[in-house]
Amino acid sequence: TNLTAQITVHADRPGAVIHPEIYGQFAEQLGAGIYGGIWVGEHSSIPNIKGYRKDVVEALKAIKVPVVRWPGGCFADQYDWRDGIGPRDKRPVHMNASWGGDDGNQFGTHEFMDFAELIGAKTYISINVGTGTPRQMSQWIEYITADGHSSLAQQRRANGRDKPWKLDYVGIGNEMWGCGGSMRPAFYADVYRQYATFVHAPANLPITRVASGANGDDVHWTDTLMAAAGSQIDAISLHNYTIPTGDWTHKGSATQFGEDQWMSTLRGALRMDDLIARHVAAMDKYDPTKRIALDVDEWGIWTDPQPGANTPALYQQNSLRDAVSAAVTLDIFQAHADRVRMANIAQMVNVLQAMILTDQSRMLLTPTYYVFDLYKVFQGATSLPIDVHAPLYRYGKVAIPGVHATAGRDAAGGVHVALVNLDPHHADTVHVRLLGMHAAKVTGRMLTGSAVNAINTFDHPHAVQPVGFDGATLKDGVITATLVPKSVTVLDIR
Ligand code: AHR
Repeated sequence: TNLTAQITVHADRPGAVIHPEIYGQFAEQLGAGIYGGIWVGEHSSIPNIKGYRKDVVEALKAIKVPVVRWPGGCFADQYDWRDGIGPRDKRPVHMNASWGGDDGNQFGTHEFMDFAELIGAKTYISINVGTGTPRQMSQWIEYITADGHSSLAQQRRANGRDKPWKLDYVGIGNEMWGCGGSMRPAFYADVYRQYATFVHAPANLPITRVASGANGDDVHWTDTLMAAAGSQIDAISLHNYTIPTGDWTHKGSATQFGEDQWMSTLRGALRMDDLIARHVAAMDKYDPTKRIALDVDEWGIWTDPQPGANTPALYQQNSLRDAVSAAVTLDIFQAHADRVRMANIAQMVNVLQAMILTDQSRMLLTPTYYVFDLYKVFQGATSLPIDVHAPLYRYGKVAIPGVHATAGRDAAGGVHVALVNLDPHHADTVHVRLLGMHAAKVTGRMLTGSAVNAINTFDHPHAVQPVGFDGATLKDGVITATLVPKSVTVLDIR
């Protein structure tokens, strides 16, 4: 049976700009996230551009990656930037104490900054606060951004980079309540103030200082930071992972699951809305004009790693469930666009909810990648308020909205409406009413799969990928479209 939903898009009441950085990525030095996934080195038989995988670079450019966060994560608070500069064959090898294995420092500051430049992304460096010093931080920033003749600028030139790079964001530590140093919020607030004082940006090239934010629903952390350090904070981060089972010791399989974990995962993803609202309420008390951003710089589904003896750290498959979950999360970020100005999915390649998986010379694009591809039209668009009246999707005793949606208007005046059908069994016919816009033409693209756990594999890399959607009709300013079960559709309206 077909369900029906009523949706109203308020093109007459434009909201905040959707910062492209909401579509940001996170690349930590761990597992195959960087080595093998992005960096193979100049002498690799895998086709590369100065050491970066050509296939991965092209795929990332195609989704317009707006910003990349690096080198961690937990890794960042044990990282010494000086180990990652100079001739690569002379760099020290360190144990990766956070994630196992060794790190040969082949991917360092130059490799990261050049990579971001290559794919056209902004740069976000997470600073070592846990085991570092403010001096190490300020020297790192000087090395990257100084234009004069200081020794650090000269050292950068000697290492092959004449012009300074643009450093857009610095994170003052990562998860300072946990792997970053097990700090309590009042203590970290003071540490933050100390470090923030020594972030010296070049004139006219501001660096956004991101305070290490809360774990999930720890609003007390956000409140304490805002009260004690708000005037020096440009953004506060938030980390929240969706665990299919809700249990960190047995998170659930990325591929072997039934409708119970389809439901629990989507329900978990939907919690992001309430979570953001609660942190925003704490921020509003101190910052009613919303100067300070809430940047969700780690989010995504975290499952058990793929079984197998040689599985790299935190390597997991990615199914249609990841795609639908990513879509509703991105909808939620857009609904909070006035405060959420960056988000970084964990993580870009071969780690957790990845865009891309690689196996030696092979590469596949995940269902999540395709959501970022469908949604790239929202980058920089103006958000439009949207009302959704949809039937509930029920499983057992649990019920969640069956349809989720978001809307935005791009610079050329085109309106984009994303419509997610969370129900795995029922199609949903939606009637979308557009207020304040005369629509003449509707086209679309749609992503679905054969099952809730449909995946792309190296042998069948195109099983889950978007197709053109021509099922939308337009009559008297109302668009009617039938959303197939478990799907993501993005309409383009002119
Ligand atoms: O993304 C993996 C890890 O999750 C990060 O290193 C850490 O910040 C978080 O706990």
